[in-house]
Amino acid sequence: MRTHFCGELNHQHIDQQITVCGWVNRRRDHGGVIFVDLRDKKGLLQVVFDPDDASMFALAESVRNEYVLKVTGKIRARPEGTVNPDMPTGEVELLAQELVILNSSETPPFQIDDDDVHDDIRLRYRYMDLRRPEMQYRMQLRARVTHFMRSWLEENEFLDIETPMLTRATPEGARDYLVPSRTHSGSFFALPQSPQLFKQLLMMSGMDRYYQIVRCFRDEDLRADRQPEFTQLDIETSFMDEEGIMGMMETMVRGLFKTVMSVEIDADFLRMSHADAMDRFGSDKPDLRISLELKTISDLLTDVEFKVFSGPANDADGRVAALLVPGGNSLSRKDIDGYTNFVSVYGAKGLAYIKCNDVSQGREGLQSPILKFLPDEAITEILARTGAKAGDLIFFGADKTSIVNESLGALRIKVAQDLGLVEEGWKFLWVVDFPMFERDDRENRWNALHHPFTAPSTDDADELEANPGGMLSRAYDMVLNGTELGGGSIRIHQNDMQQRVLKLLGIDEQEAEDKFGFLLNALRYGCPPHGGIAFGLDRMVMLMAGASSIRDVMAFPKTQTAACLLTSAPSPVSDRQLKELSIRLRKPQAEA
Ligand code: AMO
Ligand code: AMP
Repeated sequence: MRTHFCGELNHQHIDQQITVCGWVNRRRDHGGVIFVDLRDKKGLLQVVFDPDDASMFALAESVRNEYVLKVTGKIRARPEGTVNPDMPTGEVELLAQELVILNSSETPPFQIDDDDVHDDIRLRYRYMDLRRPEMQYRMQLRARVTHFMRSWLEENEFLDIETPMLTRATPEGARDYLVPSRTHSGSFFALPQSPQLFKQLLMMSGMDRYYQIVRCFRDEDLRADRQPEFTQLDIETSFMDEEGIMGMMETMVRGLFKTVMSVEIDADFLRMSHADAMDRFGSDKPDLRISLELKTISDLLTDVEFKVFSGPANDADGRVAALLVPGGNSLSRKDIDGYTNFVSVYGAKGLAYIKCNDVSQGREGLQSPILKFLPDEAITEILARTGAKAGDLIFFGADKTSIVNESLGALRIKVAQDLGLVEEGWKFLWVVDFPMFERDDRENRWNALHHPFTAPSTDDADELEANPGGMLSRAYDMVLNGTELGGGSIRIHQNDMQQRVLKLLGIDEQEAEDKFGFLLNALRYGCPPHGGIAFGLDRMVMLMAGASSIRDVMAFPKTQTAACLLTSAPSPVSDRQLKELSIRLRKPQAEA
């Protein structure tokens, strides 16, 4: 139907006879001439309707926003003074000779190029929201990313293999989405939280290298970078250790950024141990565009009278840390109160601070309600460790280590954003040497920090049981600009080690047999050493697109409460369907 796309026309097309199709972005009547901005996937083009052709002009007068048009005519240079430098096609316009209205549109619920539309409206009319150039770009970017990955992986002998959607629960730590079975009444499938066990079974099947761009389902509390269904680039390979896998993935990501973004990432990705990341940044996914760091000062405060500090300083599970804010001296009382509220969300009971007017004067040059509690030596050492200078401010966190890390870790990012201390660029790193287990004090048991199939960094099972809390795993996470892009590990490939790890996690033999019997069995029949990784594709595209939520790079995402506003899913079903599935809903209790 068309010869060109609207958005690709420029001065090289002047005097050419062309046909374009698209949507009416806006129509303007200008004293006897009608202008229509026509939009397609490549952009906007100004179309001019002259009154000379009376019937075509009348037709043009009838078009409204979002009408679908086919226009034939001649490209001409815009007259002097009307060139629009903000528009890629702004040097030219199409002088219409023939107009076909392919379809009309009711008045749209919002103007497509209006930036200030409520998210719920956008999601309800997602097919119109997706017409926005920004969304067109994001979907195109996403497709280029998956295209690159597929070709790269296939060149490297990875095989695209599909795994079941109707399956058993996989333990990635979230709640499952369940699907009732009609033929096995009372039994349920779980939608996969990831293809973890299947990809391991594929290694045991001799497939050697596997990948899949695959949907995963997790019923968890949603955030900007979490959706109930999301996409992983899932990868597994046999006969490779962590160095091999990390190196290969680094090469792939470097190629991706070069091909799709024209960004060269030359330095090798930094490696950082989990312990260092927590210590220096209070996070296992540090944003290295921000140079601010947490400094431990517990050792300086064990004997001070100020209980807020000495308590955690003397507690093996406690931490006192300082965060230097360069130029923070200018923060007002109100700013500091705001940050105190901010950290309280993470459980912090307060936010002590010292303002530095002139550090060379020691105590005299400082300003803080807690100075009176601190001996001179502690003050001197705090200034030295943080590297404080005149004009800076130091924040303090004192509590359980996890609370200090979470609150100061989040504050570090917040303050850096507020004060413009976030550098431009792409800061990749690998976080390695994760602990194998984390203690769940409430349930009095160990949990797997990664998942229960991750190999410990020792083959000696006795060592594992002697000190589960001190054991590291062979897991690795790829982090970009403070977002966990992907995570993986070398897997356990011996039956007895797998049984011991499950046992340590409090899964007894019977439960292990019931839940993972198929895996334990497969481990008995010649399982190769193997490992892999899964990238959050949505998160990767979100960062590349500069979007603030993964919703913005998904065609049909769900809301904060895990609903689809477009289709109104989830929805009630008929009594007959429920009966077939042997499900009885409890009737709401009559009001007392
Ligand atoms: P993991 O649970 O770390 O590992 O998930 C891998 C990556 O998937 C992304 N991700 C999500 N993205 C959007 N919404 C969510 N709800 C969500 N949850 C996770 C993250 C994360 O890094 N089977 C293992 C991988 C392996 O060991 O190979 C797994 O699923 O970017
Ligand atoms: P207070 O003596 O409770 O008024 O606290 C004195 C200063 O210490 C105030 O600035 C509080 O915000 C701060 N503070 C209180 N508890 C903590 C804590 N757990 N960590 C860091 N600062 C705290």
